[in-house]
Amino acid sequence: MSLETLEQDILAQVSAASDEAAIEAVRVAALGKKGAISERMKSLGSMSPDERREAGAALNLLKDRVSEALGVRKAALQEAALEVRLAGEKIDVTLPVRPQGTGTVHPVSQVWEEVVQVFGDLGFAVAEGPHIEDDFHNFDALNIPPEHPARQEHDTFFFNEKPDGARMLLRTHTSPVQIRTMLASKPPVRIIAPGRTFRCDSDMTHTPMFNQIEGLMLDETTTLANLKWVLTEFCKAFFEVDDVKMRFRASHFPFTEPSMEVDINYAREGGQLKIGQGDKWLEILGSGMVHPNVIRAGGMDPDKVQGWAFGMGLDRIAMLKYGIPDLRAFFEADLRWLRHYGFRALQVPTLAGGLS
Ligand code: DAH
Repeated sequence: MSLETLEQDILAQVSAASDEAAIEAVRVAALGKKGAISERMKSLGSMSPDERREAGAALNLLKDRVSEALGVRKAALQEAALEVRLAGEKIDVTLPVRPQGTGTVHPVSQVWEEVVQVFGDLGFAVAEGPHIEDDFHNFDALNIPPEHPARQEHDTFFFNEKPDGARMLLRTHTSPVQIRTMLASKPPVRIIAPGRTFRCDSDMTHTPMFNQIEGLMLDETTTLANLKWVLTEFCKAFFEVDDVKMRFRASHFPFTEPSMEVDINYAREGGQLKIGQGDKWLEILGSGMVHPNVIRAGGMDPDKVQGWAFGMGLDRIAMLKYGIPDLRAFFEADLRWLRHYGFRALQVPTLAGGLS
């Protein structure tokens, strides 16, 4: 076979190679140890010096051209392989977010934020306590001794007894945060404590887990007049009405003396509740002047420090404000319900921008 034919043959194979493995095979067949060109190089030894010079120069030129062609083809194939891979791994980051895929803010979270905004504006800080409490903070320190009938009313979830006989429990109200706050601070105290509470109770209007908000204000001169003003301002701001009537009814709680339940006026118009209108009454919270025993348990001197506390159902005021009829739906995680009653994310309630 002439050198020309050999070259055409190899270059045809180079063009025909469709991937890197194929081009490598062509290279080995031409330039490898036993390749066609290498074999011809070996035959130079048996030639006369003149023949060898001529044939050697021609073979070297052929070798260069073949190497060059192999390199060009290999680079082209590598480039094509990269293109295919890039196309396969492409992610279109410009795709829009599907609107039905966005979540909503739960009414409890919304109302929680609203309450924090209103009380924050009145100078109250947010305090917290653990969900798992001990007897002391949940009962004893709140003037509810072991044999007190209020303990039965609380339908407490208890944990198993510890070796020393003590039982931890799920807090039945947010009131233990009063004690924790007092023990950790000095008067004046001005806090609210929104949070989860637990009772072994379940029907139309009760769920085993629910949310409360506690309020506590203590200093040397705080009176019920402050409580009335603060609660009135809260109700007006929270329910977004110009005026609301309040009724303070004598009641009893172990941790307050005197104790009062607080009602606000409302009217029912076309199946809707109108807070601050009409002459019907709706109970929204329990309150009173903090009992001296509670102040003492909180490490403060009841002869120097006085003030009030209140406890309110967060879920309940959410239902009232947003016309939500069934408490249990709050905790069923039904997406249709959440879409209907939920709030747009990023629409954070503020007093300046509007609460709801
Ligand atoms: N802890 C009470 C409950 O869960 C609510 C309550 C009533 C809290 C009066 C108070 C208060 O701070 O003064 O039923």
